[in-house]
Amino acid sequence: MLLRVDNLAIEFATYSGTVPAVRDLSFATDHGESVGIVGESGSGKSQSVLALMGLVADNARVAGSARLAGPDDAAPVELIGARARVLRRVRGARIAMIFQDPMTALNPHLRIATQMTELVRTHLGVSKREATERAVAMLEAVRIPQAARRMRAYPHQFSGGMRQRVMIAMALACEPELLIADEPTTALDVTVQDEILETIAELRAATNTALLLITHDLGVVAGQCARTIVMQNGQVVEQGATERIFEQPAATYTQDLLAAIPRL
Ligand SMILES: Nc1ncnc2c1ncn2[C@@H]1O[C@H](COP(=O)(O)OP(=O)(O)OP(=O)(O)O)[C@@H](O)[C@H]1O
Ligand SMILES: [Mg+2]
Repeated sequence: MLLRVDNLAIEFATYSGTVPAVRDLSFATDHGESVGIVGESGSGKSQSVLALMGLVADNARVAGSARLAGPDDAAPVELIGARARVLRRVRGARIAMIFQDPMTALNPHLRIATQMTELVRTHLGVSKREATERAVAMLEAVRIPQAARRMRAYPHQFSGGMRQRVMIAMALACEPELLIADEPTTALDVTVQDEILETIAELRAATNTALLLITHDLGVVAGQCARTIVMQNGQVVEQGATERIFEQPAATYTQDLLAAIPRL
């Protein structure tokens, strides 16, 4: 087992009182496994994964447990309530995250080369030359043409789809055990979306990286995820093998979601 989440709960303190955002979320992910989280807007998908990384807003109260298996049989690391120092060591190195908007992960003022090599050096502790080689290899792996030359570009010099690829290259450069992708392709057109999902799948297969993929698109989950968690209003309405959920959805809410997918 790579990650085990038990009874995760998130509430926000607001001017009008305490607002629950996530209740009793439990699931587990094995090494290399792909899990989809689907559900309507506001159902708590993003806050759930942000809580794992210690990235929720200051007014959040997080309860429950999320244990990440220790490297090389070391004891699991509890992520909920962990010290900033512990979380910094996990983020980027063991759990990487990609978002809908690549500019949330990229610094607009720095060349791609600087951003990628610094990240690789920090987490892998390699020389500058090795870090550069690793960065170029990753850009090639996500199919950025003329990767070595493009390393010198700034984020704004890439198209939206290419920026997304750069962010994926950065996320996977340190070979994390878990990749969390929060609506990574929602802003892109369908062809680019498919290409990018395919690239992620290829890289994951090569490195046995687990994937937690958040989307409101059940079609994306069907193509990418062995298991699916369906959330509504901060709670899990059902979870299980993606195939089973598509063939025999247990919850009315899931049936409605499935009915909304255009048939191919
Ligand atoms: N800082 C905050 N203070 C109060 N409520 C918040 C805060 N951040 C998030 N929320 C609430 O938490 C709930 C869950 O939000 P979340 O972003 O996880 O939804 P989501 O499922 O990712 O939706 P979407 O599909 O639109 O991205 C929402 O009701 C949101 O308004
Ligand atoms: Mg979200």
